Amino acid sequence: MKSEQDELAFRALTRKITQARGLACDSYKDRCLRRRISVRMRARGVHTFADYGRLLEEDALEYDLLLDALTINVTKFFRNVETWRALAPWIEGLWKARRGEVRAWSAGCASGEEPYTMAVALAETARRLGQPALLGRARVDATDIDRASLERTRAPAYPEAAFTEMPAELVHRYFTPEPPRRPVPELQRIVRVLKHDLTSEPAPAAPYDLIVCRNVVIYFDRPMQERLFTLFADTLAPGGLLLLGKVETLFGPARDRFRLEEPRERIYQKATPA
Ligand SMILES: C[S@@+](CC[C@H](N)C(=O)[O-])C[C@H]1O[C@@H](n2cnc3c(N)ncnc32)[C@H](O)[C@@H]1O
Repeated sequence: MKSEQDELAFRALTRKITQARGLACDSYKDRCLRRRISVRMRARGVHTFADYGRLLEEDALEYDLLLDALTINVTKFFRNVETWRALAPWIEGLWKARRGEVRAWSAGCASGEEPYTMAVALAETARRLGQPALLGRARVDATDIDRASLERTRAPAYPEAAFTEMPAELVHRYFTPEPPRRPVPELQRIVRVLKHDLTSEPAPAAPYDLIVCRNVVIYFDRPMQERLFTLFADTLAPGGLLLLGKVETLFGPARDRFRLEEPRERIYQKATPA
């Protein structure tokens, strides 16, 4: 049971974090915030939210560690590889319709494995269609709120563990041979890294043909999830694709603007006007 005092101290702490670092805590699920903050409290041997708030005032580094913990940036190349297999023909459709000029957004890109997976998927499409020279027309915007993740996406170099789901053939084709592996320049050229807060900012560009937002909305409360789904619907071009995480489901008013094309893989297509 949460005491009223504990609840007040928790609210005061999340307000302090929002004011100091701009993270809109009130858009995140409470239990998620509590769990993450408790991890840092245990790490520092602090037992109450009030004491932890005081600690934050004295220790700027702890703020950085807390934000890292709150923004949970677990990721992998080709995470749920079957999803990327299911997405491939859809990407091919977009590629043909846009003659390579596919505009894609990885929203909540963590350390870059997801946007580079998208870049590989586009490069593979170009290769299969015998149009590798057109890859330079494509663009993948990689955005996140987390400073450390963005730095890693900007200087991409990955340990072997990041590739366990990625087909070996693709690793060899698109990354340097030795770990830490770097993406080939053709991929780096099409990925643009931007700081962006999904809870408060408009889309970084529009329209997009493909939005991949996986394992991000799960941390937000329902009103924020609905708001984001509407933002994605507004931001996608007609016929554009939205890919969510395996356990994420589109709901709210935006639901009527999409068709669920691949239910298991959470691939949605924005309806085209009649
Ligand atoms: C679990 S990771 C998901 C990474 C990747 N999309 C994937 O599925 O492998 C969640 C990411 O969402 C980012 N994130 C959390 N809150 C955010 C916000 N308000 N705006 C943008 N990104 C946010 C985190 O920093 C983190 O990198």
